[in-house]
Amino acid sequence: MLNDIESICFTAEQIENKVKELGEIIAADYADKNPVVICILKGSLIFTADLMRCMDIPCQVDFMSVSSYGSGTSSSGRVKIKKDLDCDIAGRHILIVEDILDSGNTLSCLKNLLSARNPASISICTLFDKPARRVADITPEYVGFICPDAFIVGYGLDYAEKYRNLPFVGILKPEVYS
Ligand code: IMP
Ligand code: MG
Repeated sequence: MLNDIESICFTAEQIENKVKELGEIIAADYADKNPVVICILKGSLIFTADLMRCMDIPCQVDFMSVSSYGSGTSSSGRVKIKKDLDCDIAGRHILIVEDILDSGNTLSCLKNLLSARNPASISICTLFDKPARRVADITPEYVGFICPDAFIVGYGLDYAEKYRNLPFVGILKPEVYS
């Protein structure tokens, strides 16, 4: 797998430090709120697992899987729920944990959908952000890294379902796509 990587953008150590930093900030913000941490599958599986272990407060976790209608590399403004939450979020403080915010279409749509269920609050935590590519009007409350406008893989992020298990984040060699 390593042979497919052109360059490393974020090392495992940089990610670990950032996740710890985010977890401590979130824990301070959500102390006594018993938030529902929503892991958006599959990309934020690893991030959520690590982030939660850096949040020294009571919290609950639930999972959601959505797919965005759209062609190939870009998402549209509509999402389809593939797996819904198990819990009722009415009156609860919600923290959506996402791997990467690109156009923002997926999260913007998801946020509207969850807002309709009357939670007490909704915030978004994304490990990576590509603000240059934003289309939807959405601003995450917690951001790990601003990243270059390149397709990155690793630490949960995939290309064709591969590379999620890399402990670092990198850019693929162009020949991998062809
Ligand atoms: P958005 O709706 O355009 O913001 O799309 C966000 C989703 O696209 C993310 O949750 C990822 O699943 C995927 N995505 C966007 N950029 C990348 C990338 O650089 N690598 C891997 N997946 C990406
Ligand atoms: Mg994703």
